[in-house]
Amino acid sequence: MHTLLGPFTQVLTMANLPLAGPIADDQLEVLENAGVLVQGEKIVQIGNYQDLLNAPESSTYVLHKIEEPMVLMPGFIDAHSHICFAGSRAGDYALRVAGKSYLEIARSGGGILDSVRKTRAASLEELTTLLNQRCDRHLSEGVTTCEVKSGYGLTVEAELKMLEAIKQVDQSHPLDLIPTCLAAHMCPPEFTDTKEYLNTVLEQLLPQVKERQLAQRVDIFIEDTAFSEAEALDYLQSAQTLGFEVTVHADQFSTGGSKVAAAVHAASADHLEASGPEEITLLREAGVVATVLPGASLGLGMAFAPARQMLDGGLCVAIASDWNPGSAPMGDLLLQAAVLGASQKLTTAETLAGITSRAAHALRLPDRGTLSPGMLADMIAFSTHNYQEILYQQGKLKPARIYKRGKVLSPGSLKTPLTRQTNV
Ligand code: NIG
Ligand code: FE
Repeated sequence: MHTLLGPFTQVLTMANLPLAGPIADDQLEVLENAGVLVQGEKIVQIGNYQDLLNAPESSTYVLHKIEEPMVLMPGFIDAHSHICFAGSRAGDYALRVAGKSYLEIARSGGGILDSVRKTRAASLEELTTLLNQRCDRHLSEGVTTCEVKSGYGLTVEAELKMLEAIKQVDQSHPLDLIPTCLAAHMCPPEFTDTKEYLNTVLEQLLPQVKERQLAQRVDIFIEDTAFSEAEALDYLQSAQTLGFEVTVHADQFSTGGSKVAAAVHAASADHLEASGPEEITLLREAGVVATVLPGASLGLGMAFAPARQMLDGGLCVAIASDWNPGSAPMGDLLLQAAVLGASQKLTTAETLAGITSRAAHALRLPDRGTLSPGMLADMIAFSTHNYQEILYQQGKLKPARIYKRGKVLSPGSLKTPLTRQTNV
């Protein structure tokens, strides 16, 4: 069965754009009065609505007429999040705005370890409920694929519980979740020797993650309060030997992480607030995607990663929310991308590519991020005549329609559990 959606005032396909370096706005493909033909989960054709309607086989199409001005674009891809957690860190936030630093709070036993205590104490069911609620919110704001990290368990059992929660929600919620094992978020209090902890993860946890197909990606946080460059290099190489794709929390407060990311040819290096020209060159030469996290800068009251310099230096820049209970509690990807773009002087094309096509590349997902034949029908529509309104309204213009794998989901229905069965 084919379904013809349209006519859309504009379809912003995000197709045929360079994967790295600057993008000018006139490189954007904007189709006017366009329709999208969908079969099952995928896009079959995109083009002039009237032409699609005049096709000889159109009598067999199910028509989904769009009666008001609408701009359609690919669903957003959030390439870095920590949305599987229990408890709040509002207390940390109050301390930070009163002047304490993130690293000071971490060193005094708060920070990530506070979320670890609360997440360990939560049942699998409680974690899935919380994750489901966050997925509902993300989907209603246009995010149709979201990477989710473990990393608040830090024991074999608690990390498996987190990854199991992510798997269960991925299977029951329309949003696609891409799990990443971040057992190397920091050394838990049970271990005094960080190397011994990483060896335990490599020997006892990662083989189970692999066997139970809980994640194909492994991440590590490189920082004074977490793991050193040398530890991370060994750990990531061992994870690669086990068959995992790797990614790195790099250069958030101090440099060093991107050097490791480049050495192991990580899929992405994420954060990069402290990166400079040297790090940009390393990442470009190694083909590592730079995933910048404006939500962490906003949550910590710190400078943004130098996204403009990264693009001018030839990097593929993805923009992700980093939604987590500590550094980035807001979790509004569109708002964050719009604000980053305004501050860093990014073109509309660069900002939107950062949360669509380039984010898909960060996660190595070639089946999404643009609207073109053969791609997943993951699409969002905004009630406007002009795609420029989407960033101009800095996150206040929310999607009016969300299509996930060809099924329509109305944002109004998101308070109730969604299923994959909703028909277009
Ligand atoms: O990406 N920097 C390390 N990890 C997270 C924060 C986690 C937390 O504070 O709970 C981040 O910002
Ligand atoms: Fe993070």
